[in-house]
Amino acid sequence: LAHFLIVGGTRGLGRELLKSLARKGESVSVLGRSIPRDVDVYPSSVKCWTQTLESEDSIRETIAEISSTRGKFDSLVFCQRYRADGDPWLGEFDVSLTLTKRIIDASIGCFQDSVGKSIVIVSSVFANFVDYGQPLSYHVAKAGLEQLVRYYAVHLGHLGIRVNAVAPSAFIKDESKQFYSSNGELMEFYAKSVPLGRMGTAADASQVIEFLCSASAAFVTGQTIYVDGGASLVWPESMARKAKGI
Ligand SMILES: NC(=O)c1ccc[n+]([C@@H]2O[C@H](COP(=O)([O-])OP(=O)(O)OC[C@H]3O[C@@H](n4cnc5c(N)ncnc54)[C@H](OP(=O)(O)O)[C@@H]3O)[C@@H](O)[C@H]2O)c1
Repeated sequence: LAHFLIVGGTRGLGRELLKSLARKGESVSVLGRSIPRDVDVYPSSVKCWTQTLESEDSIRETIAEISSTRGKFDSLVFCQRYRADGDPWLGEFDVSLTLTKRIIDASIGCFQDSVGKSIVIVSSVFANFVDYGQPLSYHVAKAGLEQLVRYYAVHLGHLGIRVNAVAPSAFIKDESKQFYSSNGELMEFYAKSVPLGRMGTAADASQVIEFLCSASAAFVTGQTIYVDGGASLVWPESMARKAKGI
């Protein structure tokens, strides 16, 4: 069985991935500031680690501890994003970019000596497109992550470590189900405007992450896979006309 380390596996998409891997009996280590609220439902193949992850030294120690107690990793997945009340510019850069870089650097010697070593980073369609709701820092950090993916793909290729990203559009997760299900008009708009006729879910993105970690993606590296039901392919004006039936 494979060993996955999920950074930001305590909520949202990371927890969706955790649930799916746990169902399959994979070995999963979860890293976050807290532990998942449903921690008791997981089998013993799942172990959670809390860390403030503030300094490079503490990150190195935590990664070394996880790999020495649970075994080396096959896959490292980054699902974290900045969720705090501080300065979003500094916070997003710390949590998205610096933390990701430090964990990758600390993990290079902690991968299994096997084929199928993989790193997946969760980006967003807002690495390339602009949203009215998210701050500038989110857009710039995601764009930076996608270049970080390409850089590491080139530099870690000789070790057999593949590095890819997924870029989801807004998705429904356990924590936002209630919000979307009580907004019928918004969901109708998604049904009309997204080529695949619906809003995405955390499970849609989680399945693509699993694919990128699997042997089926053995020759894929440095790529960002959009998980948006085709929404980014449609010109906004054309979408507006279709929605209004003009
Ligand atoms: N939600 C969407 O619709 C959407 C759309 C496109 C892309 N994305 C991307 O998908 C990923 C997951 O999004 P989400 O909405 O599922 O996230 P979320 O529910 O807000 O969860 C964020 C995760 O990041 C962890 N985290 C935050 N600060 C951390 C830190 N300093 N160190 C370690 N872990 C930290 C949190 O764990 P703790 O609180 O335990 O630390 C939590 O597990 C993110 O990269 C996001 O940008 C989301």
